[in-house]
Amino acid sequence: MNKTLKPLFACLFSGLICTGAAAAEPQVINIKTDGSSMVMSVTSDGEVLFHHFGGRIDDAAPVTGIKSYRRTDHGTDNLAYSTMGGRNFREPALRVTHADGDMNTELRYVSHTTRTLADTNVTRTVIKLTDTNQALDVELVYTAYAEENVITTHAVIRNREKGSIVLHSFYSSSLPVKARSYLLTHLYGAWARESQVDHTLLTHGSKSIESRKQVRTTHTENPAFMITLDSESFDENYGEVIAGALAWSGNFRLNFEVDEFNVLNILAGANPYASDYTLGEGESFTTPEMIYTYSSEGAGGASRNLHDWARNYGVWHGHVPTPTLLNSWEGAAFSFDAKTLTDMIDDAAAMGLEMFVLDDGWFGNKYPRNNDKAGLGDWEVNREKLPEGIDHIASYAHDKGLKFGIWIEPEMTNSKSELFEKHPEWVIQQPHREMHKGRGGTQLVLDLSNPEVQEFVFGVVDKLMTAHPEIAYIKWDANRCANSIGSAFQRPDEQSHFWIEYTQGLYKVMERIRAKYPDVLIQSCASGGGRVEYGALRYFDEVWTSDNTEALSRTRIQYGTSLFFPALVMGSHVSVTPNLQTGNSTPLKFRFDIACAGRLGMELQPKHMTEEERAEARRAIADYKEYRDIVMQGDLYRIGSPYDENGCYGLAYVSKDKRRAVVFTYCLLYQSRTVPQFRIRGLDPDTRYTVREMNTEEPRFWFDGGTFSGELLSRMGLNPKLSRIYDSAVFLLEAR
Ligand code: GLA
Repeated sequence: MNKTLKPLFACLFSGLICTGAAAAEPQVINIKTDGSSMVMSVTSDGEVLFHHFGGRIDDAAPVTGIKSYRRTDHGTDNLAYSTMGGRNFREPALRVTHADGDMNTELRYVSHTTRTLADTNVTRTVIKLTDTNQALDVELVYTAYAEENVITTHAVIRNREKGSIVLHSFYSSSLPVKARSYLLTHLYGAWARESQVDHTLLTHGSKSIESRKQVRTTHTENPAFMITLDSESFDENYGEVIAGALAWSGNFRLNFEVDEFNVLNILAGANPYASDYTLGEGESFTTPEMIYTYSSEGAGGASRNLHDWARNYGVWHGHVPTPTLLNSWEGAAFSFDAKTLTDMIDDAAAMGLEMFVLDDGWFGNKYPRNNDKAGLGDWEVNREKLPEGIDHIASYAHDKGLKFGIWIEPEMTNSKSELFEKHPEWVIQQPHREMHKGRGGTQLVLDLSNPEVQEFVFGVVDKLMTAHPEIAYIKWDANRCANSIGSAFQRPDEQSHFWIEYTQGLYKVMERIRAKYPDVLIQSCASGGGRVEYGALRYFDEVWTSDNTEALSRTRIQYGTSLFFPALVMGSHVSVTPNLQTGNSTPLKFRFDIACAGRLGMELQPKHMTEEERAEARRAIADYKEYRDIVMQGDLYRIGSPYDENGCYGLAYVSKDKRRAVVFTYCLLYQSRTVPQFRIRGLDPDTRYTVREMNTEEPRFWFDGGTFSGELLSRMGLNPKLSRIYDSAVFLLEAR
């Protein structure tokens, strides 16, 4: 341990209040993965400066004592965790009003430790900081995942002051990046049009991406981004890219501030919006986790790093095979009886599907769920529709060899429900103000910051699972945002705690569910696309990518999602044509070829399909089963993008051992006589692959069944005859 710091350290651990950091010994902290480094240094006055996040630097020692030549009156150098106070002029990661009213915080180094976790791929570095004048400590916790080239980080803020302090801003991380230019890539959209991609060259000043919706936060923006360094164009395969994704299901904010020194200061964390958080004496606050990766192989490399990390560490079941399914929603909506469902199960089994999911409409008696205006909260089977209960449907499915799944929306209620009659105080509302109702004009959000509500929500799942242990899958929906914020549980002077404690409440519930039901698959639905982030995915297996199931729209939605999330989590279903959302008509093959690039399901009434269509579906599903492990677990190499003007787009998933690959190719614009070329990266150049076209009896490739070297396939590529809009071809490549 650093000698000069011993006294300070001793008093921290003896619980004494000790303020004012001592002088420090200059040193370098270099957090490394196989291909990246995060370099910080401790100055002689104890500031922890941030120097580099990017390609790996093995010998960072000379950074000790590095000079920025910055005049002190122009603000601090780049800090590892910027605060309001002292010489800092940038937007701070941490802004505190201390117990005595002091608004400044200036953090200084106390100590740091690095240790390898039980999983030797993972190393954790904890940097302890304390304020120069107040008994406030901050720990910066960095977790490095060597093989995935991912470093995650969060902060722990601890109040040792005599009295309460107020946290106004408490971001998970502040990351200063130095490059010549910064191209920001992020997602935007709306319901049924989620995950569209925006590219913005950052100029001086600030740009922020945030949500204030609390529930269903990712329809419009997503707390994930890429920054392409030193280039004004986004590139799939080349160039340096930093990507980040926040693991938080509540309000979030990402702020990108290019300052007077051309440094990009990235703040990422829970949104400070109306969220002042009081920390009592002795209490601490842990921020959400921020996930970063760096790639020198363009956006594709950054995505692959995140996908690897997600499968290994970020998603509940990262390596469990996913069943194909039929979901009842678009086919039956609220109008069904037991026969409707058992017929659907028969059809699903006949097409080779592996699970049946009973969607909305199965519950509520006093207020039956026959439309979206009533019943949420009353999670008892509707006796009129299903007199023999859920078990009858589940065992019917089992008899046919199918698993059984069910839809719930446990965070919500309707003003027409027995739950609301009994517990009006459980909903989010501000007394004497209008209750702004959501879906169906009656939907309300339960106040998950209240432990009684947490107990209820856990009970919804627990009772269902106890009564019906055959449930293999839960579709967890959340169909509105929170507004007119007010919590009967929070004290009047701590109403602003609602936002944070709602999300923490959700996580407490999910912890309990996962402790008791680790094997059940759970989908994060949230109206499709509304809860697509790594906070939820710690507990969920997959997301419902969008309520828009139309294949052309899906090219963009799934492309955008794939920038940050693996195909493993992307629920993608084949539905009817013309599509119920967009009215667009696409061929069944195209719909399958799009859906098969994710977690395949169907969402329609099979009895409305023709015999030919059923046969086609059977073939597509059987083929999918042959290669789905590559889609779920392989490396993704996107070939262009659905935004490309040439109208051709492809996806290649290559197995980790490079022995197999599956390539999806799509034509989105009429090509006339032009033959598109799809170059396939990620293969082994010296391996010879047999190319077999899937899901067709009329191959579009001149040499179906032929063998090519990985070298040829990556340099020349495949040239399937795709000419008309919605032509598509899927290839399975297998090493000989
Ligand atoms: C939401 C979901 C849909 C479906 C309906 C049921 O919109 O996203 O998939 O479950 O609710 O009401």
